[in-house]
Amino acid sequence: MKKVTKAIIPAAGLGTRVLPATKAQPKEMLVIVDKPSLQYIVEELVASGITDIVIVTGRNKNSIEDHFDFSYELENTLRKDGKMELLKKVDDISNMANIYYVRQNHPLGLGHAILKAKSFIGDEPFIIALGDDIVYNPETPVAKQLIDTYNKYGGNIIGVQEVKKEDVSKYGVVKPSKILDEDTVEMIDFIEKPSMEEAPSNLACLGRYLLSPEIFDYLETTEAGKGGEIQLTDGILKMLQNNKKVIAYTFKGKRYDIGNKIGLLKANIEFGLRNPETKNDLIDFLKNEIKL
Ligand code: UTP
Repeated sequence: MKKVTKAIIPAAGLGTRVLPATKAQPKEMLVIVDKPSLQYIVEELVASGITDIVIVTGRNKNSIEDHFDFSYELENTLRKDGKMELLKKVDDISNMANIYYVRQNHPLGLGHAILKAKSFIGDEPFIIALGDDIVYNPETPVAKQLIDTYNKYGGNIIGVQEVKKEDVSKYGVVKPSKILDEDTVEMIDFIEKPSMEEAPSNLACLGRYLLSPEIFDYLETTEAGKGGEIQLTDGILKMLQNNKKVIAYTFKGKRYDIGNKIGLLKANIEFGLRNPETKNDLIDFLKNEIKL
């Protein structure tokens, strides 16, 4: 079994649900407490053993590149001022992993964004981590959980979690077949945004995938669907139709969709409560000033 060392982070969407915040910056750079959400994702991947990451960028990509690059002026000033702790934080960012960029000139869908990274991936299995989904699990990062599942069962792994019945229409939903173990099932179908009645389960795909490079062949022959977009789900569906093994794995961790307003707010509050620097002041503010 090939070692999984590469990942794609698609970050070229328009982020219309959080406009105007995303007018001049990618939503993946929106801040959760003191870090852009993209950094949480890169940290998750690095902690999972990923060494090479390609970020698919679109308009306004400069802030992403600058964030993960060495910042000579800033680092010099911090050193001069003796702010060594901050200096380390800033310096660590540019040394986390090998980060590459590919541009998706038109945001023609997630599947299209993934296709842009084809030559970078070559013939290895790889992770996809959506740039607007953060998963909190300080013990085992979610990408590592997917890699462990792949090492056990092979195939293609889709990260899922149970969602409320009334929410299934927001997600790609899995039709399970054979149970492999308590949190792992083989899939026979994948339905994008089904109605409550149509939904074959409440296992929803939540922003993490481990796929074989065969997905590129299927995406290349996938026609644009709704809104002229090439959907990753359609490529995965083709894999299923060609009897490729696709597994749904229920990952452990709390997931935040920072691509919508409430998800972004919740992430800020919860990460703020976990951060020793902000925790007490935030509790005091919520209790005594907001008086919830
Ligand atoms: P979303 O569908 O949540 O992103 O895509 P969006 O289109 O930016 O969202 P709204 O609906 O306009 O608010 C999930 C992930 O895929 C990336 C996004 O950047 C996000 O990380 N994506 C989406 C691309 O890279 N390219 C695309 O064409 C579409």
